[in-house]
Amino acid sequence: MQKMNLFLVLCGLLLHVFLHASAGESKGHISVVLMGATGDLAKKYLWQSLFRLYIDESSRGYSFFFYGAALSKPETGRVLMFQVLKELTCPPDVAPERCNLLKSQFLRLSQYLQLKTDEDYKALNKEIESTLIQEDLTEAGRLFYLSVPPFAYADIASKINSTCRPNSGAWIRVVLEKPFGHDYNSALELAKQLQNFFQEEEIYRVDHYLGKQAISHILPFRHDNRQFLEPIWNQHYVERVEIVMKETVDAKGRISFYEKYGVIRDVIQNHLTETLMYIAMEQPKNLNSSQEIVQNKLQLFGSLHKLHKKSAVIGQYQQYQAQVQEELEKTADYTSKIPTFAGVLVYIDNVRWDGIPFILTSGKALDERAGYVRVLFKNKALCVQNESARKTVQSQCDPKQIIFYIGYGDLKMPAILISKNLFKPIMPMSSWKEVRDHLETTLFGQSLSQFYIYTPVMETETYESLVSNIFHGKQDYFITTEHLLASWKFWTPLLNSLMNEDLRIYPGGPENKNLLDFVLSGKEIMFAIEQPVNILSDMSQNETPDDYKVMQSLYRNSSLVSAWAEQLISELASYLQEAAEHAVKQSGVFHLALSGGSSPVVLFQRLVWHHHSFPWKQTHLWMVDERCVPLTDPESNFRNVHDNLVQYLKIPYFNIHPMPVHMQQRLCAEEDKGTEAYASDITALVNDTRFDFVLLGVGTDGHTASLFPNSNAGLKGKEMVVFTESPIKPHQRMSLSLSVINRAKQIGVLVTGRGKHDIVTQISRVGQRPKTWPITGVQPKNGKMVWFIDYEALLM
Ligand code: BG6
Repeated sequence: MQKMNLFLVLCGLLLHVFLHASAGESKGHISVVLMGATGDLAKKYLWQSLFRLYIDESSRGYSFFFYGAALSKPETGRVLMFQVLKELTCPPDVAPERCNLLKSQFLRLSQYLQLKTDEDYKALNKEIESTLIQEDLTEAGRLFYLSVPPFAYADIASKINSTCRPNSGAWIRVVLEKPFGHDYNSALELAKQLQNFFQEEEIYRVDHYLGKQAISHILPFRHDNRQFLEPIWNQHYVERVEIVMKETVDAKGRISFYEKYGVIRDVIQNHLTETLMYIAMEQPKNLNSSQEIVQNKLQLFGSLHKLHKKSAVIGQYQQYQAQVQEELEKTADYTSKIPTFAGVLVYIDNVRWDGIPFILTSGKALDERAGYVRVLFKNKALCVQNESARKTVQSQCDPKQIIFYIGYGDLKMPAILISKNLFKPIMPMSSWKEVRDHLETTLFGQSLSQFYIYTPVMETETYESLVSNIFHGKQDYFITTEHLLASWKFWTPLLNSLMNEDLRIYPGGPENKNLLDFVLSGKEIMFAIEQPVNILSDMSQNETPDDYKVMQSLYRNSSLVSAWAEQLISELASYLQEAAEHAVKQSGVFHLALSGGSSPVVLFQRLVWHHHSFPWKQTHLWMVDERCVPLTDPESNFRNVHDNLVQYLKIPYFNIHPMPVHMQQRLCAEEDKGTEAYASDITALVNDTRFDFVLLGVGTDGHTASLFPNSNAGLKGKEMVVFTESPIKPHQRMSLSLSVINRAKQIGVLVTGRGKHDIVTQISRVGQRPKTWPITGVQPKNGKMVWFIDYEALLM
């Protein structure tokens, strides 16, 4: 018993020593209460950050006590919490012996509490007050970190307010984690509840992106380099700004949260918008004035151009539906409309930024993890010297860009990169160092050696910076109520307008290929390529094609659309019309190359009778191949196209391009150079010789266009148009070569009828063997290929 008493006295003494351990004059005592002390965030980041706070601030004269709180009983909670505390690590900048000593002090100054009822909160207050009295400490402040779900905020806030306020002279700060509402009204409601209990300056809403080193250095960078930036940080010099956060992880394990929020609410409304603020707001005169910074951000919110549904493209990774069904126990017919990918186009209506696109992009299940802001400058320079010679000198022709690289990705660390042809920046060398030994790699189209690159002297944990900022009352690193509501006011109309919009379904990871690429057209944004049809939910075991109208999957690693013939043709016709409209919108013209044969006839008829709004006036019709017969001959492919399509359309004559097989009263004579003439027409009219759409078929022997097995004609080389020999009459043919076919932006291959089943099966199993099966050489280099195969050809 005596031993026990002695032990308690010693413990008390030690505590006394730790509470008064600080060097020099005491600056006061801080009680930190971490709610959700055994939760995920606390385990991963918060305790480690509080330990860092203790290391830094105890040596500056503050004393601390840390209360970890949760709903579990003291016996279980304490064990869980101390398991975490024992694992705390020493920061590299603190000597190990000193750190170990500080860690044992930290553990002794930490205590677990169950915080549930009013009584629990009163007991906490009593505990804080008696420590202050017993130890004769002057109270500096109380910090309540609420790492708990938002529905608990109001109740906890009311209890803290009624029981745990310090006496006047000491501060109280309440820290909240997102989500802060899911739209304007819910955020307003939550804000009002909090305002019942706390003053604005007592509330700290965390956005952890504001603690990322590359982001928090944007304003200081703009300030330190204003002599270089002020003339060019505006609409006259900036081309566009990309704010990107790509993730490889998906939402598995977090679906109950994600299904309510989706990518725009989860990261774009907050992290990416905050980043946008730092880039685009007016530079505050005084960087230390939180008030001025917050004011300038609010001013910028007021200048954001309203968003509408064409301001965004949205997608969802394919596995998401199954994950929703599993985690939320939904039935198979439940369809989630929640986007897991979004690209949003933002404009700012002010003198500085008028007309400059700010593009905010984020998504789960993408090909890489990377986060950055890229400010790309306009570049009107035109260099006469060739590229390899230019590498040795600094050239005005190279891209000009400034990148705030958040981390991950190729660089794997926070960094700031400035193209050398812009300026050599002024950087605070105490916290950022220049990287001179560059990796042999390129980033954003430039070799790393063409950038000035800076990385932090010491990488700091995001939450460590945030906790330090809370402690120092730097409110500009947090989200004020006014600011939060301004942000929701901006985002809510877009979220509402997207509610019933179709999502682009993407397979996830590198398989996404160019499916999520998007383009800007005026104030609108759209996917660069069309998705053929919405992917239907996975085929269940018992279902047969009878249960479907359309099925989508992969064939030879490209998209496959399959259906009964009639439905398939209607899908293809709609697909073509969408492709045409898209091309016309982008470039004013649609270059379509058509095949001969019988399969497309039904398609032509469908286009004539059901697609009255097809943009024929802007469409140029080209031929994929031709038989060497007069165009009027019933065997002619052009005659086929003419009789079934062209004669019914209002298409300008200038836009029709039959192949010149009939010249000088003779057919396909080499000397007449018909192939060269057709190639020159293509070069003259088709931008970059890339057709917007090439429609192909497949013969029972694997031929496509007029490229036949066992011949090299048209398979290799750069010639765009070639003469070939068919095994069946008429033997002589003219054909587009693989080289020009594979440059197309889109290729559709139409295969119908039972007679094609064998070849469809055969080529489903082989790689690229164009000499045996020319169709296997069709592989667009930079475009999309879609197979349209009817059920008879695919399955019968
Ligand atoms: C969180 C989001 O706020 O940020 C997550 O809820 C996201 O969905 C995370 O994964 C990304 O943060 P970081 O720091 O890993 O880029």
